[in-house]
Amino acid sequence: MLFSRNALAAPALVSLLLTGSAAADDAQSRAQDALKTLQTWYNPQSGIWDTCGWWDGASCMTTVADLAALDPSVMDTATYVFNNTFHVGPVSNPHPGPEKKTVFTRDNQGANSVNASQWLDQAYDDDGWWALAWIAAYDATREQTYLELAEGIFESLAAAWGTNCGGGGIPWNPTSTYVNSITNEVFLSVAAHLANRVPDRKEYYVRWAQKEWDWFTSQGFIGENGTINDGLLENCQNNGATVWSYNQGVVLGGLVELNRAAPNDTLLPSANKIAEAAIKTLADSNMVIHEFCEPQCLPDGTQFKGIFIRNLQMLQRASPDETYRKVIINSANSIWKNDRDEKGGLGVNWAGPIQATVDASTHSSALDALVAALALSIL
Ligand SMILES: *[C@@H]1O[C@H](CO)[C@@H](O)[C@H](O)[C@H]1NC(C)=O
Ligand SMILES: *[C@@H]1O[C@H](CO)[C@@H](O)[C@H](O)[C@H]1NC(C)=O
Ligand SMILES: *[C@@H]1O[C@H](CO)[C@@H](O)[C@H](O)[C@H]1NC(C)=O
Ligand SMILES: *[C@@H]1O[C@H](CO)[C@@H](O)[C@H](O)[C@H]1NC(C)=O
Repeated sequence: MLFSRNALAAPALVSLLLTGSAAADDAQSRAQDALKTLQTWYNPQSGIWDTCGWWDGASCMTTVADLAALDPSVMDTATYVFNNTFHVGPVSNPHPGPEKKTVFTRDNQGANSVNASQWLDQAYDDDGWWALAWIAAYDATREQTYLELAEGIFESLAAAWGTNCGGGGIPWNPTSTYVNSITNEVFLSVAAHLANRVPDRKEYYVRWAQKEWDWFTSQGFIGENGTINDGLLENCQNNGATVWSYNQGVVLGGLVELNRAAPNDTLLPSANKIAEAAIKTLADSNMVIHEFCEPQCLPDGTQFKGIFIRNLQMLQRASPDETYRKVIINSANSIWKNDRDEKGGLGVNWAGPIQATVDASTHSSALDALVAALALSIL
């Protein structure tokens, strides 16, 4: 049964919030406001958010979970979403299989065992987004079932290990030979997160995270500017394709978690180098983050910046830097002042003005920045 335990996560934070500064109050009420707006798109039948798709749904749920972990007053909304999405979400899976082999997790005899296969959609990065989302839901609720679901998804990713580039890494999907950054960054991050949350398999997950990172750095993903391009050519050289913000972000959270599980002096400096290069490339003169596709980003591109900021916030906590703080705070403030429509919806261009569609993807991505600003104001 879900939610029998620990209805309120992180109780220590409650008192911090109550005694918080005006900045914290502001950050908290902005995030709460934006969560209410996000939920106008939540569809109880599909378990995801109308106007954005399957993997974006995982990102939206992660945002909700991250906020709930900081602000217990939204926990009811969050636990409702986790439970409902857990039960009905698979109806929205756009391409179930062909990673069709049933992936049960450890407790595969028990009544509470979870069928992770239902969350696999023939795109390994999408699978990884859902693993991260269920880990975030676990962090907010301590509901073990969610963690087990993430472990089950991880197993299907680990089974895909081995590309034509040095024999390591995960390809983009089961039928493609494209070796892209995001799939491998998400794999790193899932492994490293699990290492800190599953004590009896810690070594196993640490080994996977280290193996992924060693392979990643031996390939050409990081380009001449220190930023991470979309992926590799058939000959395994850097393909020079778009420097998407999320590709500069997911790796940061992965390295922070890996360094927490298995400290190594090289990991945070590597993260710092990527973050600095990313900010040089993606921030405007007000330190507000942009995507190269703005203002007419296709549905995937609308999601990315929030993921960057979510992970930059993790790095800021592990390795504080005034520049990171500015990027997070300035992006959040600019979104609130310049990029909000009359219904409270948040757009894709964080510097404003609103020029294109406002939907659950642009909105949840911007909400990530509001949540990161709240985290900085209270943690
Ligand atoms: C969890 O969600 C399912 C499906 O929507 C629902 O039937 C069930 O009552 C929910 N359980 C709780 C504890 O909210
Ligand atoms: C698990 O889910 C997959 C994909 O939806 C399905 O094919 C399989 O039958 C399920 N297995 C069980 C035991 O329910
Ligand atoms: C490095 O930056 C320059 C100048 O912004 C840009 O033209 C080039 O494409 C970048 N290189 C890569 C590999 O992204
Ligand atoms: C530290 O990490 C680097 C990069 O992954 C690796 O090459 C090195 O072996 C690690 N050192 C230890 C002591 O694990």
